[in-house]
Amino acid sequence: MTIQLVQVAFIAPILGWVVYTIYCLLVNYYEARKTGLPLVILPIDSGNPLWMSIDTRVLPFFRRLPFGFKNFTRFNWRGWEIEDRYRAHQELGDAFIFVTPGKNWLQICNAEAVADIFARKGEFTRPTEMLEMLNIFGPNLGTTEGQQWQRHRKITATCFNENNNEIVWHESIRQATGMVRYWTSKSSINSVADDTRTLSLHVMSGAGFGKSYDFRGAEDEATAQDSASYKDSLKIILDNCIPLVALGPNNLNKWWLPQSWKELYRATVTFRNYMTSVYEEEKKSVADGKKGSNNLMTSLVRASADAISGDGNNQSGLTEQEIYGNIFVFNFAGHDTTANTLAFGIALIATRPDVQNWISEEINAVFGDKDPVTSSYVELFPRLKRCLAVAYETVRLYTPVAIVKSTGPEPRPLQIGDKIHVLPPDTMIIPSYSALHTHPRYWGDNSLDWEPSRWITSSASSSTNVDDILASELFFEFSKSQNPFIAWSGGARVCPGRKFSQVEFVGVLVGLFRRHRIHPVRLAGEDDATARARLRALIHKDAGMKLLLQLLHPEHVNLVCEEH
Ligand code: HEM
Ligand SMILES: *[C@@H]1O[C@H](CO)[C@@H](O)[C@H](O)[C@H]1NC(C)=O
Ligand SMILES: *[C@@H]1O[C@H](CO)[C@@H](O)[C@H](O)[C@H]1NC(C)=O
Repeated sequence: MTIQLVQVAFIAPILGWVVYTIYCLLVNYYEARKTGLPLVILPIDSGNPLWMSIDTRVLPFFRRLPFGFKNFTRFNWRGWEIEDRYRAHQELGDAFIFVTPGKNWLQICNAEAVADIFARKGEFTRPTEMLEMLNIFGPNLGTTEGQQWQRHRKITATCFNENNNEIVWHESIRQATGMVRYWTSKSSINSVADDTRTLSLHVMSGAGFGKSYDFRGAEDEATAQDSASYKDSLKIILDNCIPLVALGPNNLNKWWLPQSWKELYRATVTFRNYMTSVYEEEKKSVADGKKGSNNLMTSLVRASADAISGDGNNQSGLTEQEIYGNIFVFNFAGHDTTANTLAFGIALIATRPDVQNWISEEINAVFGDKDPVTSSYVELFPRLKRCLAVAYETVRLYTPVAIVKSTGPEPRPLQIGDKIHVLPPDTMIIPSYSALHTHPRYWGDNSLDWEPSRWITSSASSSTNVDDILASELFFEFSKSQNPFIAWSGGARVCPGRKFSQVEFVGVLVGLFRRHRIHPVRLAGEDDATARARLRALIHKDAGMKLLLQLLHPEHVNLVCEEH
């Protein structure tokens, strides 16, 4: 009798949960069917955080089972789209829906429809409820919608300007020069990902806060004993985003939590104190009528003060908390994205000596004898089209972040091809970046190859003069309404750090390939071509989704850097 009761007490809630899950799935299926789009039913919602943390470990078990589970093992994990590329859209069409017990997720690989979604910014909004956690230092550009977002966007847009990009330019070249020095001092390099992280952090502290550091390689960095500075606290925060955003900074200081989390808590305090001191300092110098520098933090304080004094309405500026929130989100959104892209880009270009020569030709034509570290950003950056092509081509195939939109509370009609489909309220929309970026319809037969030259069109006649050829080259642009390339998003919510990251990437290439070349370390019995093919295959296999897309085992990328 009691045993039966215990059994019921255990089984009833589980049974209830299963019934409820099936019920939710049916409701979503019924809604999704009304769209007339192909449906793929999945048992677990893609946004389920518990599932997200175990999916790639659990699924191999299901793959070994002899029967069924095909769609589950193919689609129901984070990062499936990298492996799948455009295959699912080839099978099912430009749009299909993942029906899950949580939400319905529309996957869409149609450039016109995606442009339409970006353009209708009031209808297809960012599901900010998923981003609540990024508010730890204050509300910000990334986590607001509607009028609040407009206020944030207006102020923050003034910070991402050419003056700031100029800081990015000089700092990136200087850091890359330091990185090359470190790399050439070693017989082989296996710290590409660590080193690009250091580089990206240093560029961010220079352009974000006006704090300049010299580059230090992975080994030197590990042995250095720094006091807890802004840079270290930021590094600790960014390396531990997940517990931080999961728990909130104030819950990290409990005596029963592990020591490392208390350290994380101290880092948040140091970081906030640092922001406060810069904030106070800058407010004072605004009041004293002093001219400011162009880093993001000081520009933000000034732009906000200007907005308030401009129309005498303190509602149009940002509060102190909001300024901290934005500075945090710039770091959060800008650091790993750029660092991972650089790591992919450097590994990829190591497999292509021809591409290294191709950009080196441009770099040398543009710089001549000028010292890149002190060169003019405004004059020279726009001429480095081949270098920019390497950046675009890298984020085309290895896109660091996905975009998520939602229909919000209303049904939304959307034209896909020549049909209009009505999307139910609360449908999640994922522009299928991995398919859009590789579909042969947009990129031709070599769409899966890493080929930077696809971004350059040349009207060069028969000239063999390098300067003539370079001058005649144009950077390829898609038209706005038919643009399948969405690595930096598009429309009103386009990435504000787009140019920042492009300038950084190009600056690093300049620092690396003006005088140097890189190639993979040869294993016993390999020639150069085999080593390059092995590295290319390794990058392809090793690209995986953590918080962002990254190389999962970057230490397997072994390179040699030599003067040319
Ligand atoms: C390779 C580098 C980068 C890539 C590929 C990238 C990509 C993106 C994408 C796709 C979005 C839109 C996300 C969505 O709609 O859900 C976005 C938003 C954003 N990015 Fe970037 N980003 C990069 C670098 C940066 C940098 C360097 C910064 C800052 C310094 C930055 C700051 C932001 C911010 C603040 C947002 C939110 C904008 C808003 O909601 O209005 N990003 N980025
Ligand atoms: C499984 O996926 C295929 C497409 O690969 C689709 O046609 C089929 O309807 C899906 N099955 C279920 C039950 O969702
Ligand atoms: C605007 O001023 C009011 C009262 O003076 C104050 O309570 C509020 O916090 C201010 N808002 C901002 C954005 O500074």
